[in-house]
Amino acid sequence: MEGVIDQPMRAFLSERGGFDFCVSEFIRVTQLAPPPHVFRRDVPELTRGARTEAGLSVQVQLLGGHPERVAEAALVAYEAGAPAIDLNFGCPAPTVNRNDGGAALLRFPARIRAIVAAVRRALPPAIPVSAKLRLGWDSIEEIHVNAEMAAEGGASWLTIHGRTKVQGYLPPAHWKPIGQVKRRLGLPIVANGEIWNLEDFRRCREESHCDHFMLGRGALADLQLVHQLRAELGLAASVPRTPVSEAGVWYPALVRFAGLMEHYEESPERTLGRIKQWVRLMKRPEPWIEPVKRARTLTEALELVREAELG
Ligand SMILES: Cc1cc2nc3c(=O)[nH]c(=O)nc-3n(C[C@H](O)[C@H](O)[C@H](O)COP(=O)(O)O)c2cc1C
Repeated sequence: MEGVIDQPMRAFLSERGGFDFCVSEFIRVTQLAPPPHVFRRDVPELTRGARTEAGLSVQVQLLGGHPERVAEAALVAYEAGAPAIDLNFGCPAPTVNRNDGGAALLRFPARIRAIVAAVRRALPPAIPVSAKLRLGWDSIEEIHVNAEMAAEGGASWLTIHGRTKVQGYLPPAHWKPIGQVKRRLGLPIVANGEIWNLEDFRRCREESHCDHFMLGRGALADLQLVHQLRAELGLAASVPRTPVSEAGVWYPALVRFAGLMEHYEESPERTLGRIKQWVRLMKRPEPWIEPVKRARTLTEALELVREAELG
């Protein structure tokens, strides 16, 4: 998630365990394929075997509309250490869409096929190429042709966010069409969108018939959610690498995140900004959320959470 799941956040989430892999923020491919140092700057884990310090695999996501240039970028990313390439056909940001990227491609199914195919051709067969799709630009029905095109292009799997570009982030997410795609295509499908708790997950699983799921904001809003979902799926428990504190949930979590931001040489001001962004994405009722949004320093923000949770 662009601007959210960067190296410190990937380090934070991965040391708590539960995920099978994560995908980088999107890297844009415009006039030229980005050089290797751009990939190493944006995804520093590439220099460590493409794993977070806790060992979680980090895949690289590319966003662009020109098949050969995206393919060239994919090759650079692979040579820089990317273990898999994900292609973004879902970003709804107007600046991205005006520049022929993200969800804008959903209006041109043949171009989705061409981009996936070009990237597939450019990489060794053992390197997975996946596509991240929304249900369509303005109609849910568009998913069928777009998913088919991505599959024809040679995608190893598809991650489908159950909303159109026009629907933005407005609930609900539509999981049934994801299930229809899964039945039609013999391809692994990862269901995504609006999974905030176990009940949402159960409905998503029932409607999408999927075995694979992607968490976005829900993973940031409930740090236990991924573990609950693993248990529900009958997957082996993944032991968090940091001890879970008895005293409060968010205070120790935010202190740890702040520590990781410092470890990666980010300033306290930037850390405060990131924490404010995090709490905005959470959609939670905790009484400290509004005061934290108004905090002027990192120390003040952490103190507000500490007081609310620990007294
Ligand atoms: C701030 C923000 C940034 C995002 N950046 C990306 C991105 O870089 N690549 C991507 O595929 N999806 C991105 N997304 C979409 C999410 O991956 C996900 O599809 C969407 O939030 C729905 O899932 P959720 O309801 O679990 O959050 C972003 C979403 C948000 C809110």
